[in-house]
Amino acid sequence: MTSADELRSRFVEELCREGRLGGDDLVRAFASVPREEFVAGGFDGGDGRWIGPADPDFLPLVYRNHPLVTKLVDGVPVSSSSQPSLMAAMIESLDLRPGTRVLEIGVGTGYNAALMAALGARVTSVDIAPDVVERAGAALHRVGLAGAVEVRLGDGYLGEPASAPYDRVVVTVGLTGVSPRWLDQLAPDGYLLAPVEHAGNHPVLRIRPVGPGMGEARGELRAGFMSAAGPLAARHPGGHPAPRRTGVLPPTSVRHPPRWHPPLDVFHYHDLWFAVGAWDRRATFSAGPPGGWGGPGGCLLLDEVHGGGAGLLADGSVQAAGPSAARYAADALALRDRWVARGRPTISDWSARLVPAGDPDQPILVPTGWIQG
Ligand SMILES: C[S@@+](CC[C@H](N)C(=O)[O-])C[C@H]1O[C@@H](n2cnc3c(N)ncnc32)[C@H](O)[C@@H]1O
Repeated sequence: MTSADELRSRFVEELCREGRLGGDDLVRAFASVPREEFVAGGFDGGDGRWIGPADPDFLPLVYRNHPLVTKLVDGVPVSSSSQPSLMAAMIESLDLRPGTRVLEIGVGTGYNAALMAALGARVTSVDIAPDVVERAGAALHRVGLAGAVEVRLGDGYLGEPASAPYDRVVVTVGLTGVSPRWLDQLAPDGYLLAPVEHAGNHPVLRIRPVGPGMGEARGELRAGFMSAAGPLAARHPGGHPAPRRTGVLPPTSVRHPPRWHPPLDVFHYHDLWFAVGAWDRRATFSAGPPGGWGGPGGCLLLDEVHGGGAGLLADGSVQAAGPSAARYAADALALRDRWVARGRPTISDWSARLVPAGDPDQPILVPTGWIQG
């Protein structure tokens, strides 16, 4: 059987070959932190199996560039070790140095906190679930990083004032808006990275304070995350509709052919999708059965009033359904062509102001009025 060390070095080589690990320090961090210790309670195999350390598939699955769901409640994933390449991209965006003070929201398995600590950061990590906090603390202890990471139990909405100020806040769970407390707990020149719901996805935004309780957001990375619990996931009137399964919508009645052969790659498709969300509040995520409209996961302009809407796929084709199908299809085509006419802006070409929303007693700050530039 191949040892964990061998699998880890092959995994790191693979991530390097794909250009996922920027810089030698990050390579060393991934090479030195044993991911298997952080998922020792096992994870969801995706096929009805719970894969624990005794399973022959355990180590090969741990050392793949995949998220590992480590906790389900009523069949819904509520905690995981995120996809390693996404963790690497977020850590790179944090620009960590030895001594950088980091507040992480969502300790999960503790693996991301361990990687940041391996880079010399001083990490405080908060999680809302007592069992998750206990397991992450134990794993950090086993790998000798308990002294470099403080793990705290609590609602991440509050941040962790006791260890503030922080140079960076990094959020590893999907939000509908950011907590104003995090901005208050940042050091001057600090910034935060957070996956904030936008058109049914959770792209990571880079957020800087621009005055008391005020912030500016810029798109940073394409991403998907599980949703937070509590006020960080409050629905608000300016938000996009929640993701939909197209199986619950009427069958398509209007179709427009592809514009791109081959289709946009996943990065450019998400650039298009982000722009559609910036321009149109009806945009969300739709997933359908294989062969159904919308494909396995794509951008949908949802008709919440009459049912139906228009799916915009990676090849630029449009499929629409419902009583206003023709109008929705025309709107989707216009948004697609506007993105092309604007020079195909990427996620990081967009910025927005943050404004308060949600419960007035526990407000969240949500991006509003996205502009290019
Ligand atoms: C995707 S996991 C985090 C991944 C983690 N950083 C890792 O490396 O394994 C998301 C975590 O966020 C936690 N969470 C959800 N809502 C939260 C909240 N309001 N405050 C703090 N943690 C929260 C969940 O319990 C879960 O453990």
